[in-house]
Amino acid sequence: MPAKKTKKKTDKPAMKKSGPKKPALKKTSQKENTAAATADKFLDTIIKGDCIAAMKKLPDASVDLVFADPPYNLQLGQGELTRPDNSRVDGVDDEWDKFDSFKAYDDFTRSWLAQARRILKPNGAIWVIGSYHNIFRVGAAVQDTGFWILNDVVWRKSNPMPNFRGTRLTNAHETLIWAAKSEKSKYTFNYRALKTANDDLQMRSDWEFPICTGSERIKDDSGGKAHPTQKPESLLYRVMIASTKPGDIVLDPFFGSGTTGAAAKYLGRRYIGIERDQKYITAAKKRIARVKPLESEDLLTQPSPKAAPRVPFGTVVETKLIKPGSKLFSPRGNHSAKVRADGSLYVKDGDTEIQGSIHKVGAAVQNAQACNGWTYWHYEEKTGRRPIDFLRDKIRKGITG
Ligand SMILES: C[S@@+](CC[C@H](N)C(=O)[O-])C[C@H]1O[C@@H](n2cnc3c(N)ncnc32)[C@H](O)[C@@H]1O
Repeated sequence: MPAKKTKKKTDKPAMKKSGPKKPALKKTSQKENTAAATADKFLDTIIKGDCIAAMKKLPDASVDLVFADPPYNLQLGQGELTRPDNSRVDGVDDEWDKFDSFKAYDDFTRSWLAQARRILKPNGAIWVIGSYHNIFRVGAAVQDTGFWILNDVVWRKSNPMPNFRGTRLTNAHETLIWAAKSEKSKYTFNYRALKTANDDLQMRSDWEFPICTGSERIKDDSGGKAHPTQKPESLLYRVMIASTKPGDIVLDPFFGSGTTGAAAKYLGRRYIGIERDQKYITAAKKRIARVKPLESEDLLTQPSPKAAPRVPFGTVVETKLIKPGSKLFSPRGNHSAKVRADGSLYVKDGDTEIQGSIHKVGAAVQNAQACNGWTYWHYEEKTGRRPIDFLRDKIRKGITG
């Protein structure tokens, strides 16, 4: 009879063979693979045709971001617009901007928005830009389609076209609506990158850029504007830095002169353009071919503080970057607190004693509801005072000596 294998009993706790737990790999479903393959076919290309029909060719949940600059439905109607010197103003009077009625425009808007939402990944988002002629109608449709509005952004034009007739205010801005696919979407927002770009101030919802002029303006063969409503690349640059990651797929269903494609290529994103007018497609292709993408290492943006590993203040004390008994100071130096061995702070002011975490004590000395202790409290160095956040950063980088 073969010997029966028995497990040798030891009093050691059972060890798992697998060692430290690896993060579970996300399984990709067959459906997701097919979606990716179908979308791949269109990556970095311009689909010619009507955007609703073209989007129907794209699978569900296959793009990360939609940037849309739809027809404005300007309803010019007052004949040719001229400057005081009688020269003609190059307004938008193209066929693509004409709709029979508000209802026709709304039906069109709702149809393309529904397609855009279908092809967005669950954590995807959309930006739609427009003027007072259309943006309110578009905004209602965005909400009715199921998107979740995150912000509206005012693009303030530093060099707007004057109101030649002097009958209204100078129309000096356009509005962008930024919306997530749904309320539950974990949309991309590179908060820290935008703050860094804005000299360490939180990025606001009013952005100032000049309208597209000079060498950026794409010209046709006769030297005229290749497209009447070419958007500045700086605007798309900010949109992509704000809400995409390198390698993300950005779809633009109203591609025009290809501003979205040019910015995407430059910033290491992928694009899918849709445009129905061949002359704009030709201009866009020529334009994008000239763009030299940035090196991938130059594309790295400041990571969000939320993505960085958590380091409690106690660790700063345990690693002796700050020793118990040392003093921390408020930014203006009008408050100070002593550090204790457990990482708590202690303040004695006359009869009042306060103790607690860096945040709690920071809030208490200012009589504030809350306080970010990491940026409020400063420690003393030979070269001056620095926020303790600097020490947290050192630990994250593994510099504890
Ligand atoms: C406001 S412009 C976009 C300009 C573009 N953002 C740029 O920077 O050049 C709108 C574009 O959408 C195109 N368009 C209008 N209706 C369309 C449709 N149903 N399908 C595809 N393209 C359409 C027009 O030909 C026009 O080029």
